[in-house]
Parts: sequence; C-alpha cells; structure tokens
Amino acid sequence: MSTKDKVLTFLEANRGQHISGAKMAKELDVSRNAVWKAIKQLEKEGFKIDAVTNKGYSLLKENNQLSEIGIRENLRTNFKDAPIHYFSTIDSTNKKAKELALEGATHGTLVVANEQTKGKGRYGRQFESPEDTGIYMSAVLKPKELFFNDPTLVTAYAAVIVSRVIETLTGKQIGIKWVNDLFYENKKVCGILTEAVTDFESGQIEWIVLGIGINLSTSETTFSKEVREKAGSIFNSSDTNISRNLLVAKIYEEVVKPSEELSVDLMMQEYKSRSIVLNKQVIIQQGSKTYEVLIKDIDKAGQLVIETKEGETKTFNSGEIRI
Ligand code: BTN
Repeated sequence: MSTKDKVLTFLEANRGQHISGAKMAKELDVSRNAVWKAIKQLEKEGFKIDAVTNKGYSLLKENNQLSEIGIRENLRTNFKDAPIHYFSTIDSTNKKAKELALEGATHGTLVVANEQTKGKGRYGRQFESPEDTGIYMSAVLKPKELFFNDPTLVTAYAAVIVSRVIETLTGKQIGIKWVNDLFYENKKVCGILTEAVTDFESGQIEWIVLGIGINLSTSETTFSKEVREKAGSIFNSSDTNISRNLLVAKIYEEVVKPSEELSVDLMMQEYKSRSIVLNKQVIIQQGSKTYEVLIKDIDKAGQLVIETKEGETKTFNSGEIRI
C-alpha cells in the first residue's frame, strides 16, 4: 500500500478527529515529510482535509470523495477483502465489469467510478454520469451464487435493495417505475442496467453484470436539456448529508449476498409496494409501437400484467412506460 493510501486509511478510520502528523508518521512507520506529501496529494485529488496547527489533520465529515479505501472502511468485516476497482473517471463501469468477468473475475468484483464518460443506459442510450455528485457502480455476479439467478429478478431485486438502502440512509422515500428506474419526487434519480454474459458454446448465463447509477446531488443544470426534464437528484447540490462511500458499501453488501430466507414472493411484494405505476393508466412504448393500458399487476417473473382499452389482459416483459 502506498503512503498516500495508508494515510487515507488512517484518516478514514479516525474521521472527524484531528491526528498529528507526528503520530501518523509513527503509527505508519513513515517520515513526517512523507505524511505531509500524502496529505497534499489527497487534497489535490479533492479530499477535504482540515489542517490545524498543533492538532494535526482530520478528514472533514462533509468530505464526500469516493475511494476504494473509503468504501472498504464502510464494509462489514466479512466483505473487507472485496475486489474493488475504483476509477476517478472511466467510460463505463459496466463495460469494465464485463471485461473483468471475461478475464475470470470472482463473484462480487466491484467497479466504481466518480465519473463516466460513456455511461450506458437501456436501449443504447447514454446515462449522464457527471463527476463528484453521483454513484456509478457495477458488480460482477455469478448466477449460481445468487438467490435470484434470472436477470429480470436480479434487476427487480436490485431496484428493491437500492430503494431500501437509500431510504434507510437518507430518509427519502423512493418509488420504482417498472422495470428498473427509481424515482424521488417525480424525477428519475437512479437507473439500473443488468447485462448477462453468456457462454459462447452452451448459451448459459455465466455472469450477470449489475450496473447502478444514482444521481445523489447532481444539480439540474449539470444534465443536458433533454435529460433535465426527467432526471432529478436525491439531494440538492448543497445539502447532501450522506457519504457516497457508505452508500456504495451498503448497496454492494446487499446485492452480492441476497438473503437466503427471502422468497420471490416477498421480494415482489416489496417491489410492488414501491411501484409508482401499479393501477395507473399509462402508455407503454415497445419499439415503434405504443399502447395505452392499465397496469393491473407485476407478476412473479417481474412481468407487467396489463389491461388494454378493449378489456384484454396481456403480459409485457419489455418496453418502457411513459407516465
Ligand atoms: C437506465 O436508466 O437506462 C440504466 C442506467 C444504468 C447506469 C449505470 S451507471 C453504472 C453502470 N455503468 C454503466 O455504463 N451503466 C450503469
């Protein structure tokens, strides 16, 4: 581990407390000058560190810089050795996660970025992923390690987990718009993209790459004009009170190890209770076709059960709802 990483680990573990350069140097077995250099480097990378004469250095509570060390610090003991790949900027964490899967990554490999330049959304769209204010993470999952191994159910489960974690940590109420968009105050604040990597010969799903993008405190003007109308953020740009590292860690723990006691029934029950489209008259777009329908149910396979204007009942497993 580099001196910079050692210093950051130390500061993270003592967050909010001032530690003198001399104490850190002694504990880490490096020179005071090396500590000072590491602090300067961290500040350059955006970490907010308070330096007070005679007291020392402290990682400010409002510091919201993402880092591998910060994520690890927030993971429970049995996840401490998780394979985490952190990037300050990357084209797409899903793309990287797929590459790692093909190179033989283990279940639970996590790719996280502070910014994506080509974030992938559904239907080939771009997921705008500006720096510093969002969470862009992708987990490489081995279906046989999961309780739900069908990609549709993994996606539904991820929507439930992410809503639950955001709600627990922020107190903000999150709704789900089928199939996998999370909404807060009528705006989309999170998108989920699940991609399956299949074995060329057997056609079996070998890997599921679960990508989650959250707009945590992105100001409206940061989004492009088209996206601005629909996308929102969980917090205003100035009042975020939640650590991005903590959010990543808690979501990660849940997606990697879905509870074994959880049944599909219970999961779908929670999914439905969070649905913002159930019992609503909506328009569904499937390719170039649109349908005006009433959403009657979401079944155990995660499919929409709808009623057409003519009173006919149908199921949809793809498409996009306009509300
Ligand atoms: C959507 O709303 O259409 C899905 C958006 C998914 C975005 C996330 S951000 C992390 C991961 N990496 C990507 O390139 N996409 C997903």
